[in-house]
Amino acid sequence: MKVLVAGGAGYIGSVAVEELLKAGHSVVVFDNLSKGHEKAVHPEASFFRGDLGDSERLEEALEGCEAVLHFAADSLVGESMRDPGKYFKNNLGNTLSLLEAMRKKGIGKIVFSSTAAVYGEPENLPIREIDRQVPTNPYGESKKMIEGILGWYEKIFGFRFAVLRYFNAAGASERCGEDHAPESHLIPLVLQVALGKRDFIEVFGEDYPTADGTCVRDYIHVIDLAQAHVQALEALDEKSFTFNLGNGLGFSVKQVIEAARSITGHPIPVKMASRREGDPAVLVASSEAIKKTLGWDPKHPGIESIVESAWLWHLAHREGYGE
Ligand SMILES: NC(=O)c1ccc[n+]([C@@H]2O[C@H](COP(=O)([O-])OP(=O)(O)OC[C@H]3O[C@@H](n4cnc5c(N)ncnc54)[C@H](O)[C@@H]3O)[C@@H](O)[C@H]2O)c1
Repeated sequence: MKVLVAGGAGYIGSVAVEELLKAGHSVVVFDNLSKGHEKAVHPEASFFRGDLGDSERLEEALEGCEAVLHFAADSLVGESMRDPGKYFKNNLGNTLSLLEAMRKKGIGKIVFSSTAAVYGEPENLPIREIDRQVPTNPYGESKKMIEGILGWYEKIFGFRFAVLRYFNAAGASERCGEDHAPESHLIPLVLQVALGKRDFIEVFGEDYPTADGTCVRDYIHVIDLAQAHVQALEALDEKSFTFNLGNGLGFSVKQVIEAARSITGHPIPVKMASRREGDPAVLVASSEAIKKTLGWDPKHPGIESIVESAWLWHLAHREGYGE
């Protein structure tokens, strides 16, 4: 298939491009480089620099494509609380532009990067797809609204969609890794300490009702995530899906720091801080549904292999993509 990857110069999108190419698909990357990096674009993919809001440019890029993997979004929870309009405009408004351009071009298959933020405070653990969805921020709300719109495009126009909801993508492939500015994710922040770019890592709260008192979160290796997108895409002929991509168990902040200490050999000093408002003690999702339906089989479930792959990438790219 010829597949357009919206956001294919970003962290997860660039690894998904690698997996699509490995599976024999041809790839068009569409990205405005607001957060992505030109160097992350795979040399075997064609690249269109453009904004999803620019329908003409988008239709040009969609020429001959049969499906879309959609990663392009703003995704900082805190920023979405300060500037909700940015999130509804980019995530929701520009996804509508994408869906309309697809419709115009006769393309009806889409794999959409949603988020576990659609659930808000979990009512059950691990979270399952049928659980209550009450987002606690505009970022999660924007993704939930897109999920609803996809349902209508299926009903009215016969679209097929795979909605994949995940928490924390982590780790790296050999070529592509995490280079966000500002960085908000725990693993790259911890590794910045080991690289000498930060003096310590701040831990927000050690009095949670968890085994070691720190928050437990769900980490998925970015290659496993990317493979799930390709598998979902290839299964889209028959029907639409909504799946969680979770690790099921989760790892505490202290476990992540311990793994990083043992892999980097750096003491990684910690500074304790008080809890952040709105941080639940445990956020983990069950992936039983996608395992059962599509046979998805994550190859890197352990925190050590996730942190190790990230560390190798950061050692080889001390300044990230350096752009
Ligand atoms: N990183 C995570 O842990 C995580 C967890 C859950 C869900 N997600 C979702 O996965 C997707 C990818 O996340 P990521 O961490 O790779 O983010 P990222 O910021 O690295 O990648 C997003 C890419 O989209 C591009 N983009 C944004 N708006 C665009 C627009 N209007 N037109 C064209 N390009 C645009 C950016 O330049 C960037 O390259 C996002 O939709 C995010 O909400 C990420």
